[in-house]
Amino acid sequence: MKKTIVTATLFTFGALAFSAQADMEGGKINAKAEFDKHCAVCHPGGGNIINKAKPLGKEALAKNGIKSWKNIVAKIRNPGPGMTKFDKKEMPDKEAKAIAEYVLKTFK
Ligand code: HEC
Repeated sequence: MKKTIVTATLFTFGALAFSAQADMEGGKINAKAEFDKHCAVCHPGGGNIINKAKPLGKEALAKNGIKSWKNIVAKIRNPGPGMTKFDKKEMPDKEAKAIAEYVLKTFK
């Protein structure tokens, strides 16, 4: 029992150290790591496990009027039903923009 707790604690610290590292890559935002951390739970591979009708592919987004990184940032700040809201404190504008651009160029 005790061993399990120690292992779990070590794992948590390891994961935290890893995500802090992934945040910054030579001072630049690692958009893929940020997407994996904040968005991939619900949008693995650009899909949408909660609302299958709203994946993150470029064409699917365009059909809903989402055509630029600004439109995606607007969704991050003020999402539809079922999506987590990320405010500026949790996700600064620079980071939200980097994730938005990553989404546009990654998912077809
Ligand atoms: C808790 C699950 C969850 C998380 C986390 C999440 N999303 Fe979503 N996302 C959803 C759901 C559900 C919808 C559909 C909402 C609706 O009906 O408008 C959605 C919709 C979207 C849309 C609009 C799609 C469209 O066609 O209208 C975009 C863009 C988007 N998410 C991007 C992101 C990004 C970028 C992140 C990470 C910063 C993220 N999401 C995190 C669940 C999530």
